[in-house]
Amino acid sequence: MVFLSLNYDLTHNLNDNLTIKNTAFVLLAIGGKYLTLPIIELKDVSFKYNQAERNALNQINLSINAGEWIAVIGPNGSGKSTLAKLMNGLQIPNQGQVLINQEELNHDTVWDVRRLIGMVFQNPDNQFVGATVEDDVAFGLENMGIEREEMIQRVHESLEQVRMLPHLKKEPARLSGGQKQRVAIASVLALKPGVIILDEATSMLDPLGRQELIEAIAELKQQYNLTVISITHDINEAAKADRIFVLKAGHLMYEGTPEEIFHYGEQLIDFGLDVPFAVQLMKELENRGVTVPEDYLSEEELLRWISTSYLTK
Ligand SMILES: Nc1ncnc2c1ncn2[C@@H]1O[C@H](COP(=O)(O)OP(=O)(O)OP(=O)(O)O)[C@@H](O)[C@H]1O
Ligand SMILES: [Mg+2]
Repeated sequence: MVFLSLNYDLTHNLNDNLTIKNTAFVLLAIGGKYLTLPIIELKDVSFKYNQAERNALNQINLSINAGEWIAVIGPNGSGKSTLAKLMNGLQIPNQGQVLINQEELNHDTVWDVRRLIGMVFQNPDNQFVGATVEDDVAFGLENMGIEREEMIQRVHESLEQVRMLPHLKKEPARLSGGQKQRVAIASVLALKPGVIILDEATSMLDPLGRQELIEAIAELKQQYNLTVISITHDINEAAKADRIFVLKAGHLMYEGTPEEIFHYGEQLIDFGLDVPFAVQLMKELENRGVTVPEDYLSEEELLRWISTSYLTK
């Protein structure tokens, strides 16, 4: 059976052609399997910065579906931020095509694409424009011509989502690094994008704060079919993804589910991940001849496994 389903309210973005096309996505049910058309596609994309000797990205082919959570990992300088910039038109490829909802990203479509794809950069200091936290989050909404009442509601809602509502009246400059990152994320969430790209956007948060924020974004993904692309060195953040892309020296080296990628064991360190104690310990045990589980285990799970496997011996 094949059927088409058009959903116009997925990203709750309205009023322009491209966005309506974006939110209208086609489901094909073939033998009980659902196929969603990709929201972002890169076809044979290469990119070189002016004056650079070699390409920052080489012949990248990838496809991301609406509502997917993608983690992009890779060592420093492997091209992660460049990939993000190509996806929202901050850079244009030297070769190949970037397609957003089957439309080529070019000078004509770039503004629509930026409305669909919100991006939070690595350094929150470069992202503040307002005198207070509240003004800062409101800024983008003003630019979009959102009415005052709705603007206030969205500012409050997004600051609440990142747990920054009590800091509404503070000057951004007086916030900690982690708090600045929360506000930078709120500013993008307030715009209600269909896709959010987080470029190491939680790096200044402590582990608990980071987990909290990632949970909040996961909830929005669930509610609004938000597509999430998170560039990260954090293995717990990567573990949240539906799929992980591994970049190395400008090449897309591997692509797979977290389970598949985490099988690479100690190579994960070369993939730019901060590998936690549990993985290092498992590797050490394996080096000493112990047969360890193949799947990635959290610290707690590993402790449980050690106590049960040794207690039963
Ligand atoms: N504006 C620029 N001009 C010239 N070369 C650049 C520029 N920005 C990045 N590069 C180079 O392009 C390559 C990819 O950089 P990119 O910032 O995309 O890597 P990254 O994976 O995001 O690294 P990091 O983990 O440090 O953020 C690197 O070799 C970098 O030196
Ligand atoms: Mg980067």
